[in-house]
Amino acid sequence: MCGIFAYLNYLTPKSRQQVLDLLLQGLKRLEYRGYDSTGVAIDGASAGDDILLVRRIGKVKVLEDAIGELCRGEAFNQPVDIHIGIAHTRWATHGVPSEVNSHPQRSDVENSFVVVHNGIITNYKDVKTLLEKRGYVFESETDTEVIAKLVHHLWQTHPGYTFGELVEQAIQQLEGAFAIAFKSKHFPGECVASRRGSPLLVGIKAKTKLATDHVPILYAKAHRPHGQPFPVLQAGSDGSAEFQPLEHKEVEYFFASDASAVIEHTNRVIYLEDDDVAAVKRDGTLSIHRLNKCTDDPHIREIITLKMEIQQIMKGNYDYFMLKEIFEQPESVVNTMRGRVRFDTQTIVLGGIKEYIPEIKRCRRLMLIACGTSYHSAVATRQLLEELTELPVMVELASDFLDRNTPIFRDDVCFFISQSGETADTLMSLRYCKQRGALIVGVTNTVGSSICRESNCGVHINAGPEIGVASTKAYTSQFISLVMFALVMSEDRLSLQQRRQEIIAGLSQLDEHIRSVLKLNSQVQELAKELYQHKSLLIMGRGFNFATCLEGALKVKELTYMHSEGILAGELKHGPLALVDDEMPVLMIVTRDPVYTKCMNALQQVTSRKGRPILICEENDTETMSFSTRSLQIPRTVDCLQGILTVIPLQLLSYHIAVLRGCDVDCPRNLAKSVTVE
Ligand code: AGP
Repeated sequence: MCGIFAYLNYLTPKSRQQVLDLLLQGLKRLEYRGYDSTGVAIDGASAGDDILLVRRIGKVKVLEDAIGELCRGEAFNQPVDIHIGIAHTRWATHGVPSEVNSHPQRSDVENSFVVVHNGIITNYKDVKTLLEKRGYVFESETDTEVIAKLVHHLWQTHPGYTFGELVEQAIQQLEGAFAIAFKSKHFPGECVASRRGSPLLVGIKAKTKLATDHVPILYAKAHRPHGQPFPVLQAGSDGSAEFQPLEHKEVEYFFASDASAVIEHTNRVIYLEDDDVAAVKRDGTLSIHRLNKCTDDPHIREIITLKMEIQQIMKGNYDYFMLKEIFEQPESVVNTMRGRVRFDTQTIVLGGIKEYIPEIKRCRRLMLIACGTSYHSAVATRQLLEELTELPVMVELASDFLDRNTPIFRDDVCFFISQSGETADTLMSLRYCKQRGALIVGVTNTVGSSICRESNCGVHINAGPEIGVASTKAYTSQFISLVMFALVMSEDRLSLQQRRQEIIAGLSQLDEHIRSVLKLNSQVQELAKELYQHKSLLIMGRGFNFATCLEGALKVKELTYMHSEGILAGELKHGPLALVDDEMPVLMIVTRDPVYTKCMNALQQVTSRKGRPILICEENDTETMSFSTRSLQIPRTVDCLQGILTVIPLQLLSYHIAVLRGCDVDCPRNLAKSVTVE
């Protein structure tokens, strides 16, 4: 999905060349989100020049080369005390990837106001018609262009407004979702940014310690007397507090759609809330404005310290982030359990939901709502949740859940599982359930994300930053988070104690077991050589391993562009068996769990149609292995955790097939890491 990066240096001299390098570096950090074109805007090289826009289709490298060509000469090496540059990676939604559709979008040929935007403006056609009637001529097919032109129009009609006020006015006219950052030649050295439904944060890097750890919010008076300059501002909850914007000599500000773009510069950030307008003025002060007061608003935005380290978002010795993330799983699963599972006392504490457990135990049903891989983590743990909570558990794809206007009740507990915490379908479902009074539990990997903030309580999965578009370590950590929840829910059930103990024992060995599975890497690579030229791959299993089939097939599709299907082995005879012959690649997961005999039936159905299945089975299970010439052996663990081990060979297989097919492993075509549009 699109990425925003903006950089403002206040009394920290930087040449335009250095600014461009910073902007390009920021965009590189956002590449993993998926995009098809890029662009930057900086001040023109000499005083009085228009803002310089450089936009290109393709990767950041293409933009970098263009900048290398265009932005040469002494002027680009002269230090500038105060400057704002904005940059963007675009994932096309309105209009094909092209230079003119790339961001920054502009208000006019003089580039008076330029804007970068994530999200979709749903009423852009109405705004466009209005602006066209006022003489504006549009050059792109984007929804974003209306934002730049609308601000320009407001500037012309309200000459007294500050930059922040113009943007405040503009966003009142916009519907849909957005994160935006502006630059203007009429407000040099100033930046204004805002968000609604799309994440945006402000990173702050000051030479000396900041005097405060928060920024108070300025509210526009609700009833502005007609004709008064807009907006009349008041600070604090009752309007009496002294307003002090964040003020600092020698400060740098970074505006970004996610923390991975700013972490190498600063770990001090403010996550903006919907409808916040953050403005840095010419004097270097940062203030946050809102038009309307909401009742539960804390009236400040806290500056928080990120715990993320730069190494966490670097590839290290790996060729791709995805491979690094697959190999991080022995540690990431431990991080998910750290401080929560006490193996000595066999107790589990989930601090984020502890106080809500009595309420959850009284609920009518549990609903698990998510998309893609996150949805598969719900499928993977549903059976255990049913077993240990003895509650009805419904598993829902967020988009379908919304389409159906699903009935939701006050005594429902709804889990929203999302690596990014920003997936639009999941977030919309959350708001839908919240409105109907259900208890909202977020399960995310991103502190400060929208799902995190809008949940009543939640579990942070602590998998560490996941950069590869294909989700791997987040899946296993989501899986474990839901297992831990099931264990918490069954803590006082005498009849379930033995089962709990065997699961907790399984969790304690998980990192070692994952290490053993990762040793299969070269064997999986050989298998990939056999499979990569095929058109299709069927993955079959049932019970606790069905989710692995779905997740494995999703990985194969998104990374290799090959067709792949996860098939419930019980459904084989109801249709998919027709696909099986001696050519069709079939992978079957057969572990010694309660459905082993049924899986063996399916295996025989396949072999008797001349199918030549590749098996994922337990170590030394010679009986099962006798049905195939090729098998990947994984360690034995408790049935409900087996899915964590069986999915890893499929993560590796999709990775190796993708490499062999020459696919872009970390940024598969047409896909985005964080899908912030419905
Ligand atoms: C997984 O490999 C995919 N990239 C995708 O299915 C993803 O899981 C889905 O878009 C949901 O994202 P989320 O977990 O950030 O909500």
